[in-house]
Order: sequence, then structure tokens, then C-alpha cells
Amino acid sequence: MSDRELRVSKIQSGTVIDHVSAGEALHVLSLLGIDGTKGTTVSLGMNVPSERLGRKDVVKVESRELSDDEAEVLSLIAPEATINIIRDYDVVDKRRVEPPEEVSGVLVCPNRDCITNAGEPVETAFAVLDDGLRCEYCGEIVREDITDHLQD
Ligand code: CTP
Ligand code: ZN
Repeated sequence: MSDRELRVSKIQSGTVIDHVSAGEALHVLSLLGIDGTKGTTVSLGMNVPSERLGRKDVVKVESRELSDDEAEVLSLIAPEATINIIRDYDVVDKRRVEPPEEVSGVLVCPNRDCITNAGEPVETAFAVLDDGLRCEYCGEIVREDITDHLQD
């Protein structure tokens, strides 16, 4: 796409999360803990045309470089995403997100009887399956709306 057609301006430094599944941009922000109250500059493109995906979302977070852990968690809701690290307007690193084998301390188990919900000092852990996540403690499966189960 030429600069003339660019919908969202280039950023000077930070992270561009590109090729996000259409409609998932707001979920990406909640996974990253960005709710707009801490002053982070964020630009969004939602349902923009994409050659590869038909439609896609784009999330640009300024002055913040995503960690590998954050990129892994993003893969749960945006498996096609590309993470571009921007410094001084240049793309200095471009990575595809990779699903982790397990995610720890990110989600809450939906099973109220799970040991992780008993007020014990036990961190949650979910095995990543092809079509969902499985609590390592009680076996509960989370398939949809992963972002409904985010820890605070
Ligand atoms: N980008 C940006 N600010 C910059 C540089 C790049 O917002 N200073 C954005 C571009 O608009 C694009 C993404 O970061 O959405 C990746 O940039 P680039 O690698 O230049 O684009 P493409 O080659 O189209 O990326 P890909 O091959 O991953 O589709
Ligand atoms: Zn559980």
C-alpha cells in the first residue's frame, strides 16, 4: 500500500501488530492491558482491506516494544498476527506470533471449584490445544471468548 493510501499514520517508535484477525483489535488491547487510562498512544485500524486476509485489524502501540511472552499470548486470539518493532520509523524486527505450549498467570479458570479459584497462592496454567485451552489443574476447557477469562 502506498503512503498515499495509508489509513493510519506511521509511528516513530513502538510496536505495530499487523494482520490481526478482523474484529479482534479491541481484544488485543485488553490482552495487553491497554485500556486508554495510562496515556499510551494507540492507533487502530479495524476491518481494513488486506491482500492476505481479505480484512484485518492493525494495532499500533507507541513507545512500547512487546515482549516474546506478550507475543505468545496474542497468538491465542490473533494467530496470523505479525509483530513489527519500530525504531526511528524503521521496522527493525518482524516476527510471526507463535502459540506457546502453556500459558501461565494470564487467564482465570472458569470452574469455580478449581484450586486456582480457592484463594490459594496457585498461579493458573492452561495447556494450549489446537482448538482451545485446558486448565492444568481441573481439566476445564476454554474454547471461545478467551478475553472474557483474563486476569485483572
Ligand atoms: N509501520 C508503521 N510505522 C512505521 C513503519 C511501519 O506504522 N514507521 C507499519 C506499516 O504501516 C505496516 C507494518 O508497520 O502496517 C509493517 O511495515 P512494513 O514491513 O513496512 O510493511 P509490509 O512490508 O507491508 O509488511 P508485511 O510484509 O508484514 O505485510
Ligand atoms: Zn481449573
